[in-house]
Amino acid sequence: MAGKGFTVKKDWDNPREHAMPEGVRVPPEMRIGPVAVSPATVLAPMAGVTDTVFRRFIRHASVFTKDQGLEAKDQRTEIAAVEESVTNAQSGCGLLMTEFTSADGLSRMREAKRKRYLTFYDDEHPIGAQLFGSNAETLAEAARIVQDTGFDTVDLNLGCPAKRVVGCNGGSGLLRDLPKIGEIFRTVRKAVTIPFTVKFRMGWSDTQIVCVELARMAEAEGLNAVALHARTREQGYSGQARWEWIASVKRAVTIPVVGNGDIRTPEDAAAMVAQTGCDAVMIGRAAAANPWIFRQIAQYTATGSYDHPTFSDRHHMIRAYFEMLLAEAEATKDLPRDARLGETAGKMKQFATWFTHGVPGGGRLRKSIYQSKTGQAVLDQVNGFFASQPVEDITLDSASAAFSETAYMCD
Ligand SMILES: Cc1cc2nc3c(=O)[nH]c(=O)nc-3n(C[C@H](O)[C@H](O)[C@H](O)COP(=O)(O)O)c2cc1C
Repeated sequence: MAGKGFTVKKDWDNPREHAMPEGVRVPPEMRIGPVAVSPATVLAPMAGVTDTVFRRFIRHASVFTKDQGLEAKDQRTEIAAVEESVTNAQSGCGLLMTEFTSADGLSRMREAKRKRYLTFYDDEHPIGAQLFGSNAETLAEAARIVQDTGFDTVDLNLGCPAKRVVGCNGGSGLLRDLPKIGEIFRTVRKAVTIPFTVKFRMGWSDTQIVCVELARMAEAEGLNAVALHARTREQGYSGQARWEWIASVKRAVTIPVVGNGDIRTPEDAAAMVAQTGCDAVMIGRAAAANPWIFRQIAQYTATGSYDHPTFSDRHHMIRAYFEMLLAEAEATKDLPRDARLGETAGKMKQFATWFTHGVPGGGRLRKSIYQSKTGQAVLDQVNGFFASQPVEDITLDSASAAFSETAYMCD
């Protein structure tokens, strides 16, 4: 652990080799109660990342721009392409999740302020909102707000390892108190009719692994699905995710089980399904380094192979995302303009860091981006960088290494 969060070095840089499963692929659909998740892939909740812009970017922009014949230089073309209607099946992402939101904060906030945390657009369905907290009644109240706002599912976070969350007994802190979790399950279940799910780690530590028992409790209390990030709280992000525990959870319950941890490629996704029998796969870090991953999984499922984005695909992708971020910052009025634009510039810097790892000359770009003061300046740097590069194909594998240098506040 380092500073305020977890430093993620570890085996992300040394991915496990998987024997390729013969014919096993990510399932075409998983049902969470009445909600169809098709294909059976989920964008993991990621604080500071999976806001409405990123989610829509994943849902819509997972299209290879070269397939769209998008060579026009008109900036509007990029956003138009992103906003083209794309079905879940085409985008490859069956369910989007929000960043985690404090149940305590949500239930105390005025309605106008809630919007900031719970904003989503029609084209994000199906979408689940994730809550964290430790008080059953407060979580139930927040779940009602989530339901009234129109979310398809509500999810409870039992995985976040951040000290400030664990300190209030939220996130993975609750993994040490199963009776309390039981009370929360019951109270929230009674409060809402939309599907209720839970995302958890295996347990607090290797001597306190509770995931199988927890999944059984979830099923007994009427939850509609469980998602396991196959690490303990103590493990942070170190080592490999232990997929064998996803298999154990799957054997223990009949409600759908979503597997999560260390999927970086379509082959990994298929291998997780083959090794664990999970009903769906959830992808976090790889989606930020490689937003095409859901589309690649769909392609791999259909054909056994998949395309790799070109250098110019990468440019289109990052430009489209940055333009969406800037447009959203101009459109939302919930913070003073300077604060909104400052926040946007921060997100752009963070994303550029992940997205340009493994790109030749990416280090230089990242350095200049960090000196930029505004979002527009970041975008100009990115445009200048891509315009000055020889066009060449790169693969994305090394791009995910970015996470080895990042400190996470959450989970
Ligand atoms: C930047 C970041 C923020 C995260 N925030 C959340 C969160 O809000 N809620 C949650 O349940 N997990 C959160 N996680 C954990 C991910 O959802 C996921 O469980 C974890 O990254 C493992 O999956 P992966 O190997 O596909 O990245 C976060 C992870 C990262 C990297």
